[in-house]
Amino acid sequence: VRVRFQRPDGSEAACDVPAGLSLMEAALNNGVDEIIADCGGALSCATCHVYVDDGWMDRTGAPSEIEEEMLEFAVDRRPNSRLSCQIKLGEGLDGLSVALPQRQQ
Ligand code: FES
Repeated sequence: VRVRFQRPDGSEAACDVPAGLSLMEAALNNGVDEIIADCGGALSCATCHVYVDDGWMDRTGAPSEIEEEMLEFAVDRRPNSRLSCQIKLGEGLDGLSVALPQRQQ
């Protein structure tokens, strides 16, 4: 599964990862330092925040109720904000593109 992270400075990090990983794990495994993921995917930190690109929101789905609550702690939350540990990468998300926020906390 190919995923692309757009950095705040305009550069891009692209990586190919096995299906089944979360988007957060894809970032950590590929040196995308903007994703901090303090809680390791336990949905209790909001430091794995990303903005899902237009056109991908339908496919990533909506945040769960608990994710919604955690997103309240994300810096500069927007309508397309998601916590990347909650996005599981499957073939349907091949080509996914997300933007990274200026900061996580
Ligand atoms: Fe902590 Fe996603 S890694 S909420």
